Amino acid sequence: MSHMERLPRNRTYLMCPPEHFTVEYAINPWMDTTVAVDTRLAVKQWDQLRNTLADLGHVVHVLDPEPGLPDMVYSANGAFSVDGTVYGARFRHPQRSAEAVAHQAFYLANEGWNFIAPEHVNEGEGDFAYLPAAYGGIVLAGYGFRTDPAAHAEAQEALGRPVISLKLVDPAFYHLDTALAALDDRHVTYYPGAFSEASQRVLRQLFPDAVIADRADAEAFGLNLVSDGRHVILNTEAVAMGHKVRDAGYLPVHVDLSELKRGGGSIKCAVAELRP
Ligand code: ARG
Repeated sequence: MSHMERLPRNRTYLMCPPEHFTVEYAINPWMDTTVAVDTRLAVKQWDQLRNTLADLGHVVHVLDPEPGLPDMVYSANGAFSVDGTVYGARFRHPQRSAEAVAHQAFYLANEGWNFIAPEHVNEGEGDFAYLPAAYGGIVLAGYGFRTDPAAHAEAQEALGRPVISLKLVDPAFYHLDTALAALDDRHVTYYPGAFSEASQRVLRQLFPDAVIADRADAEAFGLNLVSDGRHVILNTEAVAMGHKVRDAGYLPVHVDLSELKRGGGSIKCAVAELRP
C-alpha cells in the first residue's frame, strides 16, 4: 500500500444506545448468558464512541432503543445503503427480527431514501461492505453463518453494484465486519483465516495491497473498525491492529467498547454508515 496522504471524508452514521443491552440469548460464540452485563458502563462507552465520531466532524443520527431488543445497539446490522438506495435487513435469528422494522421506519421517516425490502436473510452492514472507489464501486458480501448467499444476488439487483461473495469459515468471525474492513474508499484490511481458501484467493486478486491482520487482531475485534479514510476508530484492546493501520498511513483512534464485546461486537457493529 502506498503511503500517500490519507484524507478523511465526512460521513453520516446511525447509532442506537445500549440502554436495553443484555446477553439473554447466545447466537454467536462470544455471547455468554451466565455473565452479567454492565448496561450503564455499556452506555458510557457508547457515548464516548458517539462523541469521538461527532468530534471528528461526522453526523451521527440516533435510533431510539426498544426494550426487548438487547442487540439493537449493533445498528450496523439493520440495513445497507449505497447512493441513496437502502437494502433492508432480514435477521437470521427471531430474537433480532423486529430490529429490521425499526430500521425500516427510520429510512421511511427520513426523506430521500429508496428503501428496498429484502426477501432473503441478510444482516446489513454486518455482512456487506461498500468500496466506492474500488473497480468503480463494488460491494463485498459475507456468507456462511448469517447472510444467505441468495441475498448477495438480491443486493446486486437492488443496488446495481457488483457484489463479490466471500465465504466465512470460522464461527468466531460470523459476520464479514468481524473479519474485514474498508480503510477508505478503495483499501481494505482483513484476516485471511476467517475466509475459505478460495475466498482468500479472491481477496488477494482484488486487493493485493490490503493490510493483512492476524488471528489475534481479529480476536481483539481489531477488524471491527470504522474509518473515515484517515481516522480509524478501533477498540482499545486492538493495540497491534492500531500499529498496522498507522504503518499504512492512517491515524488510529482507540475507544474502549469492552462491554459490547460480550454480545460479540465492537466499534463497527455499533455504527451503521448511511450513504445518501
Ligand atoms: N449479538 C449480536 C449478534 O450475534 C452481535 C452483532 C454484531 N454485529 C456486527 N455487525 N458484527 O447478532
